[in-house]
Amino acid sequence: MSNSEQARVQSQNLSPDKVMHKLVSLAKRRGFIFPSSEIYGGLSSCFDYGPLGSEMKKNIKDLWWNSMTRRHQNIVGIDASIMMNPTVWEASGHVASFNDPMIDDRTTKRRYRADHLIENHIGKLVRDGKQADADRVKEEYEAAAGAEDSNRALYEIITGNCIKAPDTGSGDWTEVRQFNLMFQCNMGAVADTASIVYLRPETAQGIFVNFHNVREASRMKVPFGIAQIGKAFRNEIVKGNFIFRMVEFEQMEMQYFLKPGTQLEAFEAWREERFRWYTESLGISREKLHWYKHDKLAHYADLAYDIKFEFPFGIEEIEGIHSRTDFDLKQHQEYSGKNMEYIDQTTNERYLPYVVETSAGADRLFLALLSDAYQEDVVDGEPRVILKLSPRVAPVKAAVLPLMKKGGMGEKAEQLCRELSENFLVQYDDAASIGKRYRRQDEIGTPFCFTVDHQTLEEGSVTARYRDTATQERIDISKVGEFLAAQLVKA
Ligand code: GAP
Repeated sequence: MSNSEQARVQSQNLSPDKVMHKLVSLAKRRGFIFPSSEIYGGLSSCFDYGPLGSEMKKNIKDLWWNSMTRRHQNIVGIDASIMMNPTVWEASGHVASFNDPMIDDRTTKRRYRADHLIENHIGKLVRDGKQADADRVKEEYEAAAGAEDSNRALYEIITGNCIKAPDTGSGDWTEVRQFNLMFQCNMGAVADTASIVYLRPETAQGIFVNFHNVREASRMKVPFGIAQIGKAFRNEIVKGNFIFRMVEFEQMEMQYFLKPGTQLEAFEAWREERFRWYTESLGISREKLHWYKHDKLAHYADLAYDIKFEFPFGIEEIEGIHSRTDFDLKQHQEYSGKNMEYIDQTTNERYLPYVVETSAGADRLFLALLSDAYQEDVVDGEPRVILKLSPRVAPVKAAVLPLMKKGGMGEKAEQLCRELSENFLVQYDDAASIGKRYRRQDEIGTPFCFTVDHQTLEEGSVTARYRDTATQERIDISKVGEFLAAQLVKA
Protein backbone atom coordinates (compact mmCIF):
# COMPACT_ATOMS: atom_id res chain seq x y z
CA MET A 1 0.00 0.00 0.00
CA SER A 2 1.39 3.45 -0.91
CA ASN A 3 1.91 6.10 1.74
CA SER A 4 -1.06 8.12 0.58
CA GLU A 5 -3.35 5.09 0.47
CA GLN A 6 -2.26 4.15 3.96
CA ALA A 7 -2.94 7.71 5.16
CA ARG A 8 -6.40 7.77 3.67
CA VAL A 9 -7.31 4.43 5.18
CA GLN A 10 -6.23 5.61 8.63
CA SER A 11 -8.18 8.90 8.40
CA GLN A 12 -11.30 7.12 7.23
CA ASN A 13 -11.26 5.07 10.40
CA LEU A 14 -11.63 8.14 12.60
CA SER A 15 -15.13 9.04 13.81
CA PRO A 16 -16.38 12.55 12.85
CA ASP A 17 -16.24 13.73 16.48
CA LYS A 18 -12.71 12.48 16.84
CA VAL A 19 -11.62 14.24 13.64
CA MET A 20 -13.11 17.54 14.83
CA HIS A 21 -11.49 17.13 18.23
CA LYS A 22 -8.14 16.46 16.59
CA LEU A 23 -8.50 19.44 14.23
CA VAL A 24 -9.43 21.85 17.03
CA SER A 25 -6.58 20.66 19.19
CA LEU A 26 -4.03 20.77 16.36
CA ALA A 27 -5.26 24.23 15.37
CA LYS A 28 -4.65 25.55 18.87
CA ARG A 29 -1.42 23.68 19.61
CA ARG A 30 0.29 24.75 16.40
CA GLY A 31 -1.03 28.31 16.28
CA PHE A 32 -3.67 28.15 13.57
CA ILE A 33 -6.73 29.13 15.64
CA PHE A 34 -7.25 30.11 19.29
CA PRO A 35 -10.50 30.67 21.16
CA SER A 36 -11.08 34.43 21.37
CA SER A 37 -10.19 36.15 24.69
CA GLU A 38 -9.43 32.73 26.13
CA ILE A 39 -7.92 33.95 29.41
CA TYR A 40 -11.38 35.36 30.26
CA GLY A 41 -13.19 32.16 29.37
CA GLY A 42 -13.59 33.01 25.68
CA LEU A 43 -16.64 34.30 23.81
CA SER A 44 -19.09 31.97 22.12
CA SER A 45 -18.35 31.42 18.41
CA CYS A 46 -15.49 33.95 18.31
CA PHE A 47 -11.98 32.85 17.37
CA ASP A 48 -8.55 34.37 16.78
CA TYR A 49 -6.26 33.27 13.98
CA GLY A 50 -2.74 32.60 15.29
CA PRO A 51 0.61 32.98 13.49
CA LEU A 52 0.11 30.04 11.11
CA GLY A 53 -3.65 30.54 10.78
CA SER A 54 -3.35 34.17 9.77
CA GLU A 55 -0.74 33.25 7.12
CA MET A 56 -2.97 30.48 5.76
CA LYS A 57 -6.07 32.65 5.75
CA LYS A 58 -4.15 35.37 3.93
CA ASN A 59 -3.09 32.80 1.31
CA ILE A 60 -6.74 31.79 0.81
CA LYS A 61 -7.87 35.40 0.46
CA ASP A 62 -4.98 36.27 -1.89
CA LEU A 63 -5.82 33.28 -4.09
CA TRP A 64 -9.47 34.34 -4.24
CA TRP A 65 -8.62 38.00 -4.86
CA ASN A 66 -6.20 37.14 -7.67
CA SER A 67 -8.66 34.68 -9.22
CA MET A 68 -11.18 37.52 -9.44
CA THR A 69 -9.30 40.76 -10.05
CA ARG A 70 -6.14 39.60 -11.85
CA ARG A 71 -7.69 36.90 -13.99
CA HIS A 72 -10.58 39.11 -15.13
CA GLN A 73 -9.92 42.47 -16.73
CA ASN A 74 -13.54 43.41 -16.07
CA ILE A 75 -13.50 42.79 -12.30
CA VAL A 76 -12.12 45.35 -9.85
CA GLY A 77 -11.93 45.29 -6.08
CA ILE A 78 -13.07 47.59 -3.28
CA ASP A 79 -12.82 47.71 0.50
CA ALA A 80 -16.00 49.34 1.84
CA SER A 81 -16.65 50.34 5.44
CA ILE A 82 -18.31 47.91 7.84
CA MET A 83 -20.75 50.51 9.15
CA MET A 84 -22.99 52.15 6.61
CA ASN A 85 -25.90 54.55 6.58
CA PRO A 86 -28.67 52.51 8.28
CA THR A 87 -31.07 53.15 5.38
CA VAL A 88 -28.89 50.76 3.34
CA TRP A 89 -30.24 47.90 5.47
CA GLU A 90 -33.84 49.04 5.14
CA ALA A 91 -33.43 49.16 1.36
CA SER A 92 -31.73 45.76 1.21
CA GLY A 93 -34.55 44.15 3.19
CA HIS A 94 -32.34 43.11 6.08
CA VAL A 95 -34.16 45.20 8.72
CA ALA A 96 -37.51 43.67 7.78
CA SER A 97 -36.59 40.15 6.81
CA PHE A 98 -33.09 39.07 7.85
CA ASN A 99 -34.72 37.00 10.55
CA ASP A 100 -34.57 33.47 11.84
CA PRO A 101 -37.55 31.82 13.59
CA MET A 102 -36.37 30.86 17.06
CA ILE A 103 -37.88 28.80 19.81
CA ASP A 104 -36.75 28.39 23.41
CA ASP A 105 -36.87 25.37 25.66
CA ARG A 106 -38.13 26.57 29.07
CA THR A 107 -36.55 23.67 30.96
CA THR A 108 -33.04 23.70 29.52
CA LYS A 109 -33.05 27.44 28.65
CA ARG A 110 -31.60 26.52 25.26
CA ARG A 111 -32.53 28.31 22.05
CA TYR A 112 -33.07 26.62 18.68
CA ARG A 113 -34.00 27.52 15.14
CA ALA A 114 -37.55 26.32 14.67
CA ASP A 115 -37.00 25.55 10.98
CA HIS A 116 -33.90 23.48 11.77
CA LEU A 117 -35.78 21.42 14.37
CA ILE A 118 -38.42 20.56 11.77
CA GLU A 119 -35.90 19.83 9.02
CA ASN A 120 -33.92 17.54 11.37
CA HIS A 121 -37.13 15.78 12.31
CA ILE A 122 -38.03 15.18 8.65
CA GLY A 123 -34.52 13.82 8.06
CA LYS A 124 -34.84 11.47 11.02
CA LEU A 125 -38.21 10.16 9.81
CA VAL A 126 -36.67 9.41 6.40
CA ARG A 127 -33.68 7.66 8.00
CA ASP A 128 -36.05 5.61 10.16
CA GLY A 129 -37.94 4.49 7.04
CA LYS A 130 -41.10 6.46 7.94
CA GLN A 131 -41.46 8.07 4.52
CA ALA A 132 -45.22 8.71 4.75
CA ASP A 133 -44.78 10.60 8.05
CA ALA A 134 -41.84 12.51 6.60
CA ASP A 135 -43.95 13.56 3.57
CA ARG A 136 -46.80 14.71 5.81
CA VAL A 137 -44.53 16.88 8.01
CA LYS A 138 -42.79 18.23 4.89
CA GLU A 139 -46.16 19.25 3.48
CA GLU A 140 -47.09 21.03 6.73
CA TYR A 141 -43.68 22.73 6.72
CA GLU A 142 -44.08 23.97 3.13
CA ALA A 143 -47.54 25.29 3.95
CA ALA A 144 -46.14 27.14 7.02
CA ALA A 145 -43.97 29.32 4.75
CA GLY A 146 -47.07 30.81 3.13
CA ALA A 147 -49.20 30.93 6.29
CA GLU A 148 -50.49 34.27 7.58
CA ASP A 149 -48.86 33.60 10.95
CA SER A 150 -45.88 31.45 9.98
CA ASN A 151 -44.44 31.52 13.52
CA ARG A 152 -47.63 29.97 14.89
CA ALA A 153 -47.64 27.41 12.05
CA LEU A 154 -44.04 26.36 12.88
CA TYR A 155 -44.92 26.13 16.59
CA GLU A 156 -47.88 23.87 15.78
CA ILE A 157 -45.72 21.56 13.65
CA ILE A 158 -43.17 21.25 16.46
CA THR A 159 -45.66 20.62 19.25
CA GLY A 160 -48.12 18.65 17.09
CA ASN A 161 -45.37 16.20 16.08
CA CYS A 162 -43.79 16.07 19.56
CA ILE A 163 -40.46 17.25 18.15
CA LYS A 164 -37.77 17.31 20.84
CA ALA A 165 -34.43 19.10 21.03
CA PRO A 166 -31.89 16.78 19.35
CA ASP A 167 -29.18 17.47 21.95
CA THR A 168 -31.20 17.25 25.19
CA GLY A 169 -34.37 15.34 24.29
CA SER A 170 -36.41 18.03 26.04
CA GLY A 171 -39.43 19.73 24.41
CA ASP A 172 -40.84 22.34 26.80
CA TRP A 173 -41.35 24.88 24.03
CA THR A 174 -42.16 28.60 24.06
CA GLU A 175 -43.92 30.23 21.09
CA VAL A 176 -41.80 30.76 17.95
CA ARG A 177 -40.46 34.32 17.55
CA GLN A 178 -38.60 36.07 14.77
CA PHE A 179 -35.08 37.12 15.65
CA ASN A 180 -33.17 39.68 13.53
CA LEU A 181 -29.59 38.60 12.94
CA MET A 182 -28.08 42.06 12.58
CA PHE A 183 -25.96 43.49 15.41
CA GLN A 184 -27.00 47.00 16.32
CA CYS A 185 -24.76 49.62 17.87
CA ASN A 186 -25.12 53.28 18.72
CA MET A 187 -23.07 55.83 16.88
CA GLY A 188 -22.32 59.09 18.70
CA ALA A 189 -22.42 60.15 22.32
CA VAL A 190 -26.13 59.71 23.02
CA ALA A 191 -27.66 56.24 22.87
CA ASP A 192 -30.97 57.04 21.18
CA THR A 193 -32.68 55.39 18.26
CA ALA A 194 -31.62 58.16 15.87
CA SER A 195 -28.00 56.96 16.10
CA ILE A 196 -28.52 53.22 15.53
CA VAL A 197 -26.08 51.69 13.06
CA TYR A 198 -25.64 48.05 12.11
CA LEU A 199 -22.56 45.90 11.70
CA ARG A 200 -22.94 44.70 8.12
CA PRO A 201 -24.37 41.17 7.84
CA GLU A 202 -22.93 40.79 4.30
CA THR A 203 -20.28 42.67 2.35
CA ALA A 204 -22.45 42.79 -0.79
CA GLN A 205 -24.30 46.01 0.04
CA GLY A 206 -21.02 47.96 0.14
CA ILE A 207 -20.65 46.91 -3.50
CA PHE A 208 -24.20 47.80 -4.58
CA VAL A 209 -24.12 51.31 -3.12
CA ASN A 210 -20.78 51.93 -4.88
CA PHE A 211 -22.01 50.72 -8.27
CA HIS A 212 -21.79 54.13 -9.99
CA ASN A 213 -18.64 55.24 -8.11
CA VAL A 214 -16.72 52.18 -9.27
CA ARG A 215 -18.18 52.19 -12.78
CA GLU A 216 -17.22 55.81 -13.35
CA ALA A 217 -13.81 55.70 -11.63
CA SER A 218 -12.72 52.53 -13.42
CA ARG A 219 -14.54 53.24 -16.73
CA MET A 220 -16.28 49.87 -16.55
CA LYS A 221 -18.83 48.71 -19.08
CA VAL A 222 -21.52 46.11 -18.34
CA PRO A 223 -20.85 43.23 -17.88
CA PHE A 224 -18.37 43.94 -15.10
CA GLY A 225 -17.77 42.78 -11.56
CA ILE A 226 -16.84 44.29 -8.20
CA ALA A 227 -15.04 42.08 -5.69
CA GLN A 228 -14.62 42.55 -1.99
CA ILE A 229 -13.19 40.69 0.99
CA GLY A 230 -14.24 41.77 4.46
CA LYS A 231 -15.79 41.05 7.81
CA ALA A 232 -19.50 40.42 8.22
CA PHE A 233 -21.44 39.99 11.45
CA ARG A 234 -24.50 37.90 12.27
CA ASN A 235 -26.06 37.30 15.66
CA GLU A 236 -26.45 33.60 14.90
CA ILE A 237 -28.85 31.69 17.16
CA VAL A 238 -27.24 28.37 16.45
CA LYS A 239 -23.51 28.47 16.95
CA GLY A 240 -20.87 25.81 17.06
CA ASN A 241 -18.81 23.45 14.94
CA PHE A 242 -15.66 25.45 15.59
CA ILE A 243 -15.22 28.17 12.94
CA PHE A 244 -18.04 26.88 10.73
CA ARG A 245 -20.69 29.25 12.11
CA MET A 246 -19.36 32.36 13.77
CA VAL A 247 -20.90 35.68 14.72
CA GLU A 248 -17.96 37.55 13.16
CA PHE A 249 -16.62 36.07 9.96
CA GLU A 250 -15.07 37.01 6.65
CA GLN A 251 -16.76 36.92 3.27
CA MET A 252 -15.24 36.97 -0.22
CA GLU A 253 -17.98 38.32 -2.46
CA MET A 254 -18.20 39.36 -6.08
CA GLN A 255 -21.19 41.03 -7.75
CA TYR A 256 -21.27 40.68 -11.51
CA PHE A 257 -23.44 43.38 -13.12
CA LEU A 258 -24.98 42.39 -16.42
CA LYS A 259 -27.67 43.15 -18.95
CA PRO A 260 -31.10 41.73 -18.01
CA GLY A 261 -31.72 38.58 -20.02
CA THR A 262 -28.08 37.45 -19.93
CA GLN A 263 -28.12 36.34 -16.28
CA LEU A 264 -28.65 32.62 -16.88
CA GLU A 265 -25.65 32.28 -19.14
CA ALA A 266 -23.47 34.25 -16.70
CA PHE A 267 -24.83 32.25 -13.78
CA GLU A 268 -23.80 28.97 -15.40
CA ALA A 269 -20.35 30.31 -16.32
CA TRP A 270 -19.74 31.49 -12.74
CA ARG A 271 -21.03 28.24 -11.32
CA GLU A 272 -18.50 26.33 -13.37
CA GLU A 273 -15.63 28.71 -12.64
CA ARG A 274 -16.23 28.79 -8.90
CA PHE A 275 -16.40 25.00 -8.61
CA ARG A 276 -13.18 24.65 -10.59
CA TRP A 277 -11.43 27.13 -8.28
CA TYR A 278 -11.87 24.82 -5.30
CA THR A 279 -10.39 21.79 -7.00
CA GLU A 280 -7.78 23.35 -9.27
CA SER A 281 -6.51 26.34 -7.28
CA LEU A 282 -6.99 25.04 -3.76
CA GLY A 283 -6.61 21.32 -4.36
CA ILE A 284 -9.77 20.31 -2.45
CA SER A 285 -10.84 16.70 -3.10
CA ARG A 286 -13.43 16.70 -5.89
CA GLU A 287 -15.47 13.96 -4.22
CA LYS A 288 -15.99 16.07 -1.08
CA LEU A 289 -17.65 18.92 -3.00
CA HIS A 290 -21.37 18.91 -3.79
CA TRP A 291 -23.93 21.11 -5.51
CA TYR A 292 -27.18 22.07 -3.82
CA LYS A 293 -29.98 23.88 -5.64
CA HIS A 294 -32.18 26.09 -3.45
CA ASP A 295 -35.94 25.54 -3.61
CA LYS A 296 -36.55 28.09 -0.86
CA LEU A 297 -34.97 31.31 -2.17
CA ALA A 298 -33.71 34.35 -0.22
CA HIS A 299 -35.80 37.49 -0.63
CA TYR A 300 -33.49 38.87 -3.34
CA ALA A 301 -32.81 35.80 -5.50
CA ASP A 302 -34.49 34.10 -8.47
CA LEU A 303 -31.98 31.26 -8.70
CA ALA A 304 -29.45 30.00 -6.18
CA TYR A 305 -26.98 27.17 -5.80
CA ASP A 306 -24.61 26.37 -2.97
CA ILE A 307 -21.26 24.68 -3.20
CA LYS A 308 -21.17 22.36 -0.22
CA PHE A 309 -18.29 20.52 1.37
CA GLU A 310 -18.24 17.25 3.29
CA PHE A 311 -17.17 18.43 6.74
CA PRO A 312 -16.65 15.79 9.44
CA PHE A 313 -20.01 16.87 10.92
CA GLY A 314 -21.95 16.81 7.63
CA ILE A 315 -22.27 18.27 4.14
CA GLU A 316 -22.55 22.04 4.53
CA GLU A 317 -22.38 25.24 2.47
CA ILE A 318 -19.09 27.00 1.81
CA GLU A 319 -20.21 29.28 -1.04
CA GLY A 320 -23.48 30.60 -2.42
CA ILE A 321 -23.98 31.56 -6.06
CA HIS A 322 -27.07 33.70 -6.45
CA SER A 323 -28.88 35.35 -9.30
CA ARG A 324 -30.01 38.49 -7.43
CA THR A 325 -31.93 40.06 -10.34
CA ASP A 326 -32.08 43.89 -10.13
CA PHE A 327 -33.49 43.68 -6.60
CA ASP A 328 -30.69 45.51 -4.80
CA LEU A 329 -30.10 48.32 -7.31
CA LYS A 330 -33.85 48.87 -7.58
CA GLN A 331 -34.21 49.07 -3.82
CA HIS A 332 -31.28 51.48 -3.47
CA GLN A 333 -32.69 53.61 -6.28
CA GLU A 334 -36.01 53.81 -4.45
CA TYR A 335 -34.62 54.45 -0.95
CA SER A 336 -31.82 56.87 -1.95
CA GLY A 337 -33.72 58.68 -4.68
CA LYS A 338 -30.60 58.34 -6.89
CA ASN A 339 -30.83 56.88 -10.37
CA MET A 340 -28.98 53.55 -10.39
CA GLU A 341 -29.53 52.85 -14.11
CA TYR A 342 -26.79 52.02 -16.55
CA ILE A 343 -26.68 53.66 -19.96
CA ASP A 344 -25.14 51.61 -22.74
CA GLN A 345 -23.03 54.14 -24.68
CA THR A 346 -23.25 52.27 -27.98
CA THR A 347 -26.95 51.47 -28.07
CA ASN A 348 -28.22 54.23 -25.73
CA GLU A 349 -30.22 51.58 -23.89
CA ARG A 350 -30.98 52.35 -20.26
CA TYR A 351 -31.56 49.64 -17.69
CA LEU A 352 -31.02 48.53 -14.13
CA PRO A 353 -28.37 45.81 -14.37
CA TYR A 354 -29.07 42.33 -13.08
CA VAL A 355 -26.53 40.77 -10.75
CA VAL A 356 -24.96 37.34 -10.36
CA GLU A 357 -23.24 37.04 -7.02
CA THR A 358 -20.57 34.63 -5.84
CA SER A 359 -20.32 34.65 -2.05
CA ALA A 360 -17.78 32.51 -0.22
CA GLY A 361 -16.85 32.39 3.45
CA ALA A 362 -13.11 32.56 4.15
CA ASP A 363 -13.45 30.90 7.57
CA ARG A 364 -15.61 28.00 6.39
CA LEU A 365 -13.21 27.47 3.54
CA PHE A 366 -10.32 27.47 6.02
CA LEU A 367 -12.05 24.71 8.00
CA ALA A 368 -12.83 22.77 4.81
CA LEU A 369 -9.17 22.93 3.79
CA LEU A 370 -7.96 21.84 7.23
CA SER A 371 -10.34 18.90 7.40
CA ASP A 372 -9.66 17.86 3.80
CA ALA A 373 -5.92 17.96 4.46
CA TYR A 374 -5.82 16.17 7.82
CA GLN A 375 -4.41 12.65 7.70
CA GLU A 376 -2.56 10.26 9.94
CA ASP A 377 -0.12 7.69 8.65
CA VAL A 378 3.04 5.81 9.49
CA VAL A 379 6.42 6.73 8.02
CA ASP A 380 9.57 4.72 8.82
CA GLY A 381 7.65 2.87 11.51
CA GLU A 382 6.65 6.14 13.25
CA PRO A 383 3.08 7.51 13.31
CA ARG A 384 2.70 11.02 12.01
CA VAL A 385 0.00 13.64 11.57
CA ILE A 386 0.11 15.33 8.22
CA LEU A 387 -1.75 18.27 6.71
CA LYS A 388 -1.80 17.62 2.98
CA LEU A 389 -2.46 21.25 2.11
CA SER A 390 -1.83 22.51 -1.36
CA PRO A 391 1.57 24.31 -1.32
CA ARG A 392 -0.29 27.45 -2.40
CA VAL A 393 -2.44 27.34 0.74
CA ALA A 394 0.15 26.01 3.22
CA PRO A 395 1.26 28.73 5.66
CA VAL A 396 4.95 27.78 5.57
CA LYS A 397 6.30 26.90 2.13
CA ALA A 398 9.52 25.22 3.25
CA ALA A 399 11.67 24.43 6.28
CA VAL A 400 15.44 24.65 6.26
CA LEU A 401 17.02 22.17 8.63
CA PRO A 402 20.72 21.70 9.42
CA LEU A 403 21.43 18.03 10.14
CA MET A 404 23.55 19.34 13.03
CA LYS A 405 24.02 22.87 14.21
CA LYS A 406 27.77 22.55 14.50
CA GLY A 407 30.43 22.02 11.84
CA GLY A 408 29.22 24.94 9.68
CA MET A 409 25.85 23.34 8.85
CA GLY A 410 23.90 25.75 11.08
CA GLU A 411 25.40 28.83 9.38
CA LYS A 412 24.88 27.40 5.90
CA ALA A 413 21.22 26.61 6.68
CA GLU A 414 20.65 30.07 8.16
CA GLN A 415 22.09 31.62 5.02
CA LEU A 416 19.80 29.53 2.78
CA CYS A 417 16.84 30.45 4.99
CA ARG A 418 17.65 34.17 4.67
CA GLU A 419 17.85 33.89 0.88
CA LEU A 420 14.57 31.98 0.54
CA SER A 421 12.81 34.38 2.93
CA GLU A 422 13.07 37.10 0.27
CA ASN A 423 10.31 35.32 -1.66
CA PHE A 424 8.73 32.69 0.57
CA LEU A 425 7.66 32.12 4.16
CA VAL A 426 10.25 29.60 5.36
CA GLN A 427 11.19 28.32 8.81
CA TYR A 428 14.62 27.50 10.20
CA ASP A 429 14.66 24.72 12.79
CA ASP A 430 17.68 23.12 14.46
CA ALA A 431 16.02 21.73 17.61
CA ALA A 432 15.58 17.96 18.14
CA SER A 433 16.31 15.00 15.84
CA ILE A 434 15.84 15.40 12.10
CA GLY A 435 12.91 12.92 12.18
CA LYS A 436 11.12 14.96 14.84
CA ARG A 437 11.70 18.15 12.88
CA TYR A 438 10.22 16.59 9.72
CA ARG A 439 7.16 15.54 11.70
CA ARG A 440 6.73 19.04 13.15
CA GLN A 441 6.65 20.39 9.60
CA ASP A 442 4.33 17.62 8.31
CA GLU A 443 1.85 18.51 11.04
CA ILE A 444 1.59 22.14 9.88
CA GLY A 445 1.46 21.22 6.20
CA THR A 446 4.91 22.46 5.11
CA PRO A 447 5.26 20.89 1.66
CA PHE A 448 9.08 20.79 1.46
CA CYS A 449 12.03 20.49 3.83
CA PHE A 450 15.62 21.25 2.76
CA THR A 451 18.28 19.59 4.86
CA VAL A 452 21.82 20.90 5.04
CA ASP A 453 24.25 18.05 5.80
CA HIS A 454 27.89 17.05 5.37
CA GLN A 455 27.43 16.63 1.63
CA THR A 456 26.18 20.22 1.42
CA LEU A 457 29.49 21.46 2.79
CA GLU A 458 31.49 19.16 0.52
CA GLU A 459 29.65 19.48 -2.79
CA GLY A 460 26.95 22.15 -2.39
CA SER A 461 23.79 20.00 -2.58
CA VAL A 462 20.90 19.74 -0.07
CA THR A 463 18.23 17.09 0.51
CA ALA A 464 14.79 18.10 -0.69
CA ARG A 465 12.11 16.13 1.17
CA TYR A 466 8.54 15.91 -0.11
CA ARG A 467 5.93 16.06 2.68
CA ASP A 468 3.31 13.76 1.15
CA THR A 469 5.52 10.87 0.16
CA ALA A 470 8.41 11.49 2.60
CA THR A 471 10.71 10.78 -0.35
CA GLN A 472 13.93 12.71 -0.81
CA GLU A 473 16.19 13.85 -3.62
CA ARG A 474 19.35 15.90 -3.75
CA ILE A 475 19.38 19.29 -5.44
CA ASP A 476 22.02 21.96 -5.82
CA ILE A 477 21.80 24.57 -3.03
CA SER A 478 21.87 27.38 -5.62
CA LYS A 479 18.74 25.90 -7.26
CA VAL A 480 16.54 25.67 -4.13
CA GLY A 481 14.72 28.98 -4.76
CA GLU A 482 13.99 27.99 -8.37
CA PHE A 483 12.85 24.51 -7.25
CA LEU A 484 10.44 26.01 -4.72
CA ALA A 485 9.01 28.54 -7.17
CA ALA A 486 8.45 25.78 -9.76
CA GLN A 487 6.74 23.53 -7.21
CA LEU A 488 4.37 26.30 -6.17
CA VAL A 489 3.36 27.00 -9.76
CA LYS A 490 2.89 23.26 -10.38
CA ALA A 491 0.80 22.77 -7.23
N1 GAP B 1 -24.34 38.13 0.08
C1 GAP B 1 -24.92 36.83 0.14
C2 GAP B 1 -24.67 36.12 1.39
O1 GAP B 1 -24.22 36.70 2.36
P1 GAP B 1 -24.88 33.78 2.52
O2 GAP B 1 -25.17 32.46 1.90
O3 GAP B 1 -25.72 34.23 3.65
O4 GAP B 1 -24.97 34.82 1.32
C3 GAP B 1 -22.34 33.54 2.03
O5 GAP B 1 -23.36 33.80 2.97
C4 GAP B 1 -21.22 32.73 2.68
O6 GAP B 1 -20.78 33.38 3.87
C5 GAP B 1 -21.65 31.34 3.12
O7 GAP B 1 -21.57 30.41 2.06
C6 GAP B 1 -20.62 31.03 4.21
O8 GAP B 1 -19.43 30.53 3.62
C7 GAP B 1 -20.34 32.39 4.81
N2 GAP B 1 -21.10 32.55 6.07
C8 GAP B 1 -22.38 32.92 6.23
N3 GAP B 1 -22.71 32.94 7.53
C9 GAP B 1 -21.61 32.56 8.22
C10 GAP B 1 -21.31 32.38 9.61
N4 GAP B 1 -22.20 32.64 10.55
N5 GAP B 1 -20.06 31.97 9.96
C11 GAP B 1 -19.13 31.73 9.00
N6 GAP B 1 -19.35 31.89 7.70
C12 GAP B 1 -20.57 32.30 7.29
